[in-house]
Amino acid sequence: MRIIESVSGMQSAADGFRASGRSIGLVPTMGYLHEGHLELMRTAAQQSDVVVASIFVNPTQFGPGEDLEQYPRDFDGDVQKAGKAGVDVIFSPSGEEMYPKGFQTKVRVERVTKHLCGIFRPVHFEGVTTVVCKLFNCVKPDLAVFGEKDFQQLVVIERMTVDLNMNIRIVGVPVQREPDGLAMSSRNSYLIGQERHSALCLFKSLQLAKRLYSRGERNARTIRDAVIDLIASHPFTSVDYVTLCDPVSLEDVEVLERKTLLALAVNVGRTRLIDNCILG
Ligand code: PAF
Repeated sequence: MRIIESVSGMQSAADGFRASGRSIGLVPTMGYLHEGHLELMRTAAQQSDVVVASIFVNPTQFGPGEDLEQYPRDFDGDVQKAGKAGVDVIFSPSGEEMYPKGFQTKVRVERVTKHLCGIFRPVHFEGVTTVVCKLFNCVKPDLAVFGEKDFQQLVVIERMTVDLNMNIRIVGVPVQREPDGLAMSSRNSYLIGQERHSALCLFKSLQLAKRLYSRGERNARTIRDAVIDLIASHPFTSVDYVTLCDPVSLEDVEVLERKTLLALAVNVGRTRLIDNCILG
């Protein structure tokens, strides 16, 4: 396994892989790897000749007062885990390497960033698309793998690659869950004491919504109200949003006539968690 820290080093390694006819799969991460990330890496390994995982806690996607400083880090542990999951290269640039003095360019996707998390985290997606675009230019991948837990991020990145003619295949991987159903996330490590139990309300509310749907309920408001009530019955929780929307445009739906995304963002104590499922 190679560890590359410079943009120029990554670009010339990528040129070498491509010149020898090998396809490149990229898994962008912010580190503190868990089984969810490792599944992305294994997926990349199945579908490409060389797997590059980036580890970069991207400051531009955190808003003021968010958890940039606190964000968990374990570089040595990450290297071990990534190696076992089939990663060939770790690209881990510094902040200065990615955003050198004078940096002033941003990539913004307009409409799909205005919904869901975009309402609560106004600078987040611009930071994500800017860094992912830069990672694409450094690693020059044929495909890039993202988790469906961050469903909106996946939609935004798919939109960006199409709109900017990037010619990179975007692969989504289903949410990986703990045995009790909690969606895997680096931020789960923030949950303390009883909060861990309360955090299960996200998974339980998705299951409730699926039950209502399978019994024939098609009114978005009825499903949403039931989900909000279930979350409210768990201590330490406050809802940012519970939204039923079109999985491509992310526009709200009132009646579930076709495939609908149910997406949630819930604060459990001071930890903000997201989860989602498709109904229909
Ligand atoms: O999903 C993440 O971990 C980040 O948003 C990403 C895609 C690595 C960009 O910093």
